[in-house]
Formats: sequence, structure tokens, C-alpha cells
Amino acid sequence: MSTISIIGTGNMARTIGARAVAGGNTVEVMGRDHTKAADLAKVLGSGATTGEWGTAPAGDIVIVALLYDGVVPVVAQYGDALAGKVIIDISNPFNSTFDGLAHREETSIAQEVAKAAPASASVVKAFNTIFRHVLEQGRPDVFIAGDDARAKARVEAFVESLGLRPLDVGGLRMAHWLEGAGVVTVGLANHGVGNLDFALSITELPV
Ligand SMILES: NC(=O)c1ccc[n+]([C@@H]2O[C@H](COP(=O)([O-])OP(=O)(O)OC[C@H]3O[C@@H](n4cnc5c(N)ncnc54)[C@H](OP(=O)(O)O)[C@@H]3O)[C@@H](O)[C@H]2O)c1
Repeated sequence: MSTISIIGTGNMARTIGARAVAGGNTVEVMGRDHTKAADLAKVLGSGATTGEWGTAPAGDIVIVALLYDGVVPVVAQYGDALAGKVIIDISNPFNSTFDGLAHREETSIAQEVAKAAPASASVVKAFNTIFRHVLEQGRPDVFIAGDDARAKARVEAFVESLGLRPLDVGGLRMAHWLEGAGVVTVGLANHGVGNLDFALSITELPV
């Protein structure tokens, strides 16, 4: 099992935190509003704790569950406190019309996190293509991207502890396309599927 710190106290923090404790992981919550972090830790139960904002997280894996424009500044603010950590970025940088990305270049929030984080930290993109309530109630595939094979293996073990299937899409450059897949998911919700009760998944031909 893994030790997890979640930076953020919103919907995704609550959902991932609940699945994490159910999967037997040790969970710490950190929020810029300490009261919200303490409330979430209490709701999660199972020994979940609260960490001090900006200090070294207790978890080996640090899930940054913030709105996309807060992710890089907060990682920069934590600075060396994230040394040696596996950082999971779950954000979707949607544009204002939800049909494109907020950044134009071929980058991603995850790649920008890697630039802002200590060199000894490893960044993995994960969970961003899954609507919160589907993650809460369903068994969606979890696409991951990152450059560090050992970090990805740790994230895969964590995802498996949630009862979910991790699927590696490649290096951290692929985080750009996972963020694009987040846009595709919203497009499907608004058009072809017509609701939010689904997740992208992989269909394999029988061997
Ligand atoms: N919801 C989904 O279905 C879903 C699915 C996949 C991925 N995601 C991604 O997951 C991330 C979190 O989404 P969410 O639904 O959990 O959002 P949320 O419920 O609105 O929670 C956002 C959290 O971010 C914090 N925050 C926002 N800006 C911040 C900043 N500048 N500095 C520090 N903290 C900041 C908020 O703190 P305060 O409470 O103090 O404001 C709150 O804890 C987003 O990047 C989103 O794109 C969401």
C-alpha cells in the first residue's frame, strides 16, 4: 500500500481520498484552508491526517488536486518540500468554451509541474480523463503518463489498490494528449454520449 498526500480539499480530493483509504492506503490532506483539510480528513476517516500547507508532505505520492491554474504556482510554492516525491497531476486546463486547452503550445500542466518541481521529484499525469462521480462509483481505466518508470510503477500500484486498471500511455510529453483527451471527454458528454455518466476506456480484441 502507498502513503498518499493530497493537496486540495475539493471534489476530486474527496473522491480520490475516499477510494485511497478504502484501498488501504495512508492518506494525508493539505489545503490552503486548514479547516477544510481537517474536515475532509475527518470525513475520510481511517486515520487520515491533516498536513500543514506548504510543508513537506508525509506521503511518498503527492496528488495535486487543484484547479489547473493553481497547480504550477502551488508546486513552486512547496518547492524543496516536494524533493523525492512522486507528484500526480490530475488537472484539466480547459479553455473558456471547454473545446480546447487553455495553453496553446505543445505542453501540459504536468510538464510545467516538472519544470517547477525539484529535480528529484517525478511527475505523473493521471485521473484527468475521468469524471469525478464516475471515479467514485465506477471502475474506469486510469490513463497515466510520465518519464520515470519507477514513479509510474508506484502510481500503477496505487491505482490498482483502488481496484482500477492503470494504462500507461507513454512519457510525460503524452500528458499534453491526456489533457486533450479530457477535452474529448467533455465533447462526448456534450454531444455523442449526451451525459456525464461514462469514461474513456480501452477495448481489446480477444487473443
Ligand atoms: N471534478 C471532476 O470531474 C474532475 C475530473 C478530472 C479532473 N479534474 C481536475 O481535478 C482538479 C480539481 O477539481 P475539483 O473538481 O476537485 O475542483 P474543486 O472541487 O473546485 O476543488 C478545487 C480545489 O483547489 C483549491 N484551489 C483552487 N485554486 C487554488 C490555488 N490557486 N491555490 C491553492 N488552492 C487552490 C481549492 O481550494 P479552496 O477550497 O480553498 O478554494 C479546492 O481545494 C482540477 O484541476 C480539475 O480539472 C476534475
